[in-house]
Amino acid sequence: MRSNLIAGLDIGTTKTCAVIAELDGDDWRHPQIKILGAGQARTSGIRREIVSDLEETTQAVRNVMKEAELMAGVTVDRVYAGIAGDHVCTRSSLGVVALQDEEITVDDLARVHEVARAVALPPDREMLHAIPQEYVVDHQPGIKDPLGMTGTRLECEVYLVTCASQPASNIRKVVQRAGYRVQELVLEPLAASLAVLNEDEKEVGVALVDLGAGSTDVGVFYEGRIRHIATIRWGGTTLTTDLVRGLSMPFAEAQRAKERFGAASTKLVNHRETVDLGGNGPGSQQRRAVARELIAHVLEERLDEIFGLVRREIDALDLPGPLGAGVVLTGGGAGLEGLVEFGQHVFSAPVRIGVPMNGLTGLADSLARPKFATVAGLVTYAAERFVETGAGTSTLASGLVSRVGSWLKEFF
Ligand SMILES: Nc1ncnc2c1ncn2[C@@H]1O[C@H](COP(=O)(O)OP(=O)(O)OP(=O)(O)O)[C@@H](O)[C@H]1O
Ligand SMILES: [Mg+2]
Repeated sequence: MRSNLIAGLDIGTTKTCAVIAELDGDDWRHPQIKILGAGQARTSGIRREIVSDLEETTQAVRNVMKEAELMAGVTVDRVYAGIAGDHVCTRSSLGVVALQDEEITVDDLARVHEVARAVALPPDREMLHAIPQEYVVDHQPGIKDPLGMTGTRLECEVYLVTCASQPASNIRKVVQRAGYRVQELVLEPLAASLAVLNEDEKEVGVALVDLGAGSTDVGVFYEGRIRHIATIRWGGTTLTTDLVRGLSMPFAEAQRAKERFGAASTKLVNHRETVDLGGNGPGSQQRRAVARELIAHVLEERLDEIFGLVRREIDALDLPGPLGAGVVLTGGGAGLEGLVEFGQHVFSAPVRIGVPMNGLTGLADSLARPKFATVAGLVTYAAERFVETGAGTSTLASGLVSRVGSWLKEFF
């Protein structure tokens, strides 16, 4: 594996996708992320973001990796893989260290991070991220970068993200069986946020809402900091199941109806319009006409509940002010007609669709859809880690992570 290659792998409920990119450019601190290849396959071996069928998922991972490698004309051996689900927990933790009243160094930061992240985890949980939020130097709060300041006492608040060990080791297992290795597991909504949000939005406040198939993942940012992560156990599959019940049709047909003719609100469709759902798949002689308003009605009911739950999560945070940049929607569900308008109504805030755009070149066009936000964010995360550790992936792989590298590892 060439040392400037990075790979992201998103194992989702309905699709698995992989992206291979090359880090390019003259300035190694701000490399260009050149997308070389991507692969995608449908999956069903995952239930609510937990690998439920190892064999099927392994096959899917192998297929998408091979497809991406073929397209890229390179091979890779390690991937940054996404993880999500309601087994993910977060909490804040505070670290305090004494200083020699000299300039704060990288070593001091390493010490304070180590103290802050040194929480006892039960054996069935593991640490995903420890994200420094803010520093306090001699009781002066709100410091983002204390390097070079002087003082006698340094405090750091970190946002700890942990997950259950079993889903994490299942992801490692399928990746390993497919012939690769997980370099790091990355929380999916965090990855997606890297691909679609900009710094200004995170500063004025924004919620990333990823409408996947198995769940809806939420990440809230305010004043440049991550404030909240949540998973709502309803997603696109729930919407389809509602149509199955409401319109008495098979799942595959309901899914098609949702994706082709669905709308987020009855207000957005002509109440006289009917759509032809064409029976049970290709070749079927059966035709079936359904009022589009009825499809929209079923979807609207559930979306209202899902967005209502998202809103409750945001309201419960007690932030200093409203989310200035509102809500950014990603995931396959973001393709639903009228979802932006519907979201604006529910959230009383600006809403936009998040399409991966943050600094990708090469074949970036192939990722320009909201459902690829997570995988695009995984390569962005990988690129940031590459820069932070100041070394190629080969150095990391051999375990020669420098002192600097090991504390920077905590940033994302
Ligand atoms: N145009 C569309 N309108 C409405 N829903 C859509 C549309 N296109 C795709 N979807 C839905 O999006 C969902 C798939 O989204 P996505 O690919 O983000 O999920 P996933 O990553 O596989 O799932 P998860 O992240 O929950 O594990 C499916 O439920 C699919 O029906
Ligand atoms: Mg997903």
